[in-house]
Amino acid sequence: MMVCEYKPGLEGIPAAQSSISHVDGQKGILEYRGIRIEELAEKSTFLETAYLLIWGELPSKEELEAFEHEVRYHRRIKYRIRDMMKCFPESGHPMDALQASAAALGLFYSLRDLHNPAYIRDSVVRLIATIPTMVAAFQLMRKGNDPVKPRDDLDYSANFLYMLNEREPDPLAAKIFDICLILHVEHTMNASTFSARVTASTLTDPYAVVASAVGTLGGPLHGGANEEVIQMLEEIGSVENVRPYVEDLLQRKAKIMGFGHRVYKVKDPRATILQTLAEQLFDKFGADKYYEIAQEMERVVAEKLSGKGIYPNVDFYSGLVYRKMGIPTDLFTPIFAIARVAGWLAHWKEQLAENRIFRPTQIYNGKHEIPYLPIDQR
Ligand code: CMC
Repeated sequence: MMVCEYKPGLEGIPAAQSSISHVDGQKGILEYRGIRIEELAEKSTFLETAYLLIWGELPSKEELEAFEHEVRYHRRIKYRIRDMMKCFPESGHPMDALQASAAALGLFYSLRDLHNPAYIRDSVVRLIATIPTMVAAFQLMRKGNDPVKPRDDLDYSANFLYMLNEREPDPLAAKIFDICLILHVEHTMNASTFSARVTASTLTDPYAVVASAVGTLGGPLHGGANEEVIQMLEEIGSVENVRPYVEDLLQRKAKIMGFGHRVYKVKDPRATILQTLAEQLFDKFGADKYYEIAQEMERVVAEKLSGKGIYPNVDFYSGLVYRKMGIPTDLFTPIFAIARVAGWLAHWKEQLAENRIFRPTQIYNGKHEIPYLPIDQR
């Protein structure tokens, strides 16, 4: 067997062949199925982009309407799922609640039929439709309220914000939220997508695929960074404190949350769009002092770390957008998951099309031929 050089974190090692998305980390370009995200952010919707990623091409008008219709009418969650969620501790993290709920969905649809396109489509629709409902339901239930039923007259993003806040969202906020979902929906072979593909390769059900990916997304080096960015900006508290804060982190060799990327060596194009969206929200709903802190932070970090190619990533400005919409900090990563589920499902489908189970090797660096020592001699 050919043994490759060991690369921690599998840096630079292709784990799959994929036509879903592409990143040029030197030029700061991200494409979904060949279309630049700037164009999709301006002209598409989340559901249309999800369709593009999963089925490979932009839908016709009829195809899009049919998909939107199916998603709209599968938004409700079963009362057993809701009752299960009621028993979750309210102090628990919403990502854990989401992971458990996504896995629990599989209990209701355990008849796996991976070769049947209708099964694939039903699973895609059900997961994209119900994950926002589960996130909103947990949020209301942990406050002691009953979850709000989805509203069929509202679009995907407007409906989520409605279920979360129990009132119809401002149209600009709903539009910006939808763009945020487009920006987070897919990003090549990141950790959670890799996790999804490994799970998919065992031919388990899509609910297990999504649950494993949600678990992976939650960590602070991946999707969980967006929460930590806001906590960091709050801790910094003022523009003057930025420089000493950054210098202290660097001296302790700690990571600055929301900066750096395995692939991008320039500013993440998603961060640039999110910054513009944040500005649109501040123009309409009032300025946020944390935005000034964030801008100063970008300047100071560029001064210190641009030589290493460390710039803001997607998580740096997304939190400021969600914060301005009044969304609690610990829901930022579940919102990332609401978007990314479509990317994971696109990879699930692609993995199934040419499946071979993931079974990498390892470099054993332990001992050999050690005799068993009886317990009284240890
Ligand atoms: N702050 C300070 N230094 C950094 C940072 C950072 N955020 N990121 C990388 N570096 C330095 C690192 O110290 C190392 O320096 P040296 O070569 O002198 O030891 C060099 O850059 C390479 O870092 P690395 O940790 O080997 O890079 P990686 O590709 O393994 O990690 C990363 C990528 C995203 C995990 C890392 O940049 C990081 O931890 N960033 C902070 C957490 C974060 O914002 N995560 C969100 C990532 S984007 C969205 C997502 O994936 O969900």
